Amino acid sequence: MRRPDPPFAHRYGTWPALALGRVSIGGSKMAEPTKTATLSLDGKSYDLPVYSPTLGPDVVDIRKLYDQADVFTFDPGFTSTAACESAITFIDGDKGELLYRGYPIEDLANNCDFLEVCFLLINGDLPNATEKKDFENMVMHHTMVHEQMQFFLRGFRRDAHPMSVLTGLVGAMAAFYHDEIDYSEPHAREVAQIRLIAKMPTLVAMAYKYSVGQPFIYPDNSLSYTANFMRMMFATPCEEYKVNPVLVRALDRIFTLHADHEQNASTSTVRLCGSSGTNPFAAISAGIACLWGPAHGGANEACLQMLNEIQANGGVDKIHEFIAQVKDKNSSVRLMGFGHRVYKNFDPRAKLMRETCYEVLSELGLQDDPLFKLAMTLEKIALEDEYFVSRKLYPNVDFYSGIVQRALGIPTEMFTCIFALARTVGWIAQWEEMITDPEYKIGRPRQLYVGETTRKVPNISVRK
Ligand code: CMC
Repeated sequence: MRRPDPPFAHRYGTWPALALGRVSIGGSKMAEPTKTATLSLDGKSYDLPVYSPTLGPDVVDIRKLYDQADVFTFDPGFTSTAACESAITFIDGDKGELLYRGYPIEDLANNCDFLEVCFLLINGDLPNATEKKDFENMVMHHTMVHEQMQFFLRGFRRDAHPMSVLTGLVGAMAAFYHDEIDYSEPHAREVAQIRLIAKMPTLVAMAYKYSVGQPFIYPDNSLSYTANFMRMMFATPCEEYKVNPVLVRALDRIFTLHADHEQNASTSTVRLCGSSGTNPFAAISAGIACLWGPAHGGANEACLQMLNEIQANGGVDKIHEFIAQVKDKNSSVRLMGFGHRVYKNFDPRAKLMRETCYEVLSELGLQDDPLFKLAMTLEKIALEDEYFVSRKLYPNVDFYSGIVQRALGIPTEMFTCIFALARTVGWIAQWEEMITDPEYKIGRPRQLYVGETTRKVPNISVRK
């Protein structure tokens, strides 16, 4: 018989209620339509309600279209499809604007720490001083993972990519934390959310320590969230670890800048996976798997590899040759860290990351680091080049975040794990919003079928 772990009762009694529901999150009723769009098809016309969002373009509601007109719509990359109603994050790509719950990313990055941003994303507004303290206390007292998780981790090969290990570890949390299993209960969801935010740094650091053959470092709950993560990553039992506040602030900012980004591929994956009613650990694990791809979270790793390659092939003197290759229509080489699907003016996260990059390199006395010099020269040349200017290609957050992470001592193959750690809060906020949405349904896209029409199975003796 399964014996449920009593993980928290002994320390805190019951879990104190978080401020979920302090402002209206999820659970909101869809606004009334503001206009009507008309679709004409085969001599008939159909009225479609149009909703006006608080920000962004109007949305045509096609939910009844199939019932009424017997047609589907076709939008494979979701380029014109709003898949859900959301009140969490807003991006205006033309203006270079990113808002979490209405607050500009610049304000948040300059005035709040990552745990305040986590509280904001989950609860809908920033914490006051008491809420901040309670939230920090709650998160920092759930940083430790079940001791048996390390034996599970030891089953992986040491040379496995840390993202494959992380996908497995987070999925396995469902096996280790099954005391709350009815996720229609708000309390169960709160517990899972705090567990994910609190334990993700521990799991990422464990995946790293395992890959380099060093002992795991247990969390130190007296430190801040980010300082504790850095200690778990870089301390060894042999020496005292000294926290450097400039570096902690830099990593904390990386977390803030990556915390959420609207309905991107991994977030949509978490929503789709979670829409079946599966447990949140499984849904977040699916998000991590999606994030791993080079077109998504893997881009900062690819950017640093590109810089290393240019450096190895001649450095600054070879930049013009490299840029010519990027501009050549017959080559598939891209300037990694440049361009964005949504931001066509500038990536607001890139501006902040650039600032942090200078701060960190100056703190570490690395301003003359050849790779940094190379990146800055490459940036200058590309920003003045007609090819990039005319296509509105600007540096994105990944152009600088790889350089910062490298300076902090984070190995390249861990970059996407850092991204996953930061994005976990966005994923769970979006998952919570979906579960509490009265319009919520299991995600089930339709298709434009182009296969065979109905045919009979021929006897095996006559098959070609
Ligand atoms: N280097 C060279 N040319 C580029 C680049 C680039 N990085 N990005 C776009 N272009 C060109 C592209 O060749 C095309 O030119 P043309 O019109 O002559 O055919 C034009 O710009 C438009 O490109 P696109 O592929 O239609 O643009 P997109 O919006 O679909 O692509 C992107 C966005 C991010 C995939 C792309 O810019 C890219 O591959 N960038 C490099 C990878 C990278 O840094 N990714 C990180 C994105 S930020 C992470 C995040 O937010 O999660």
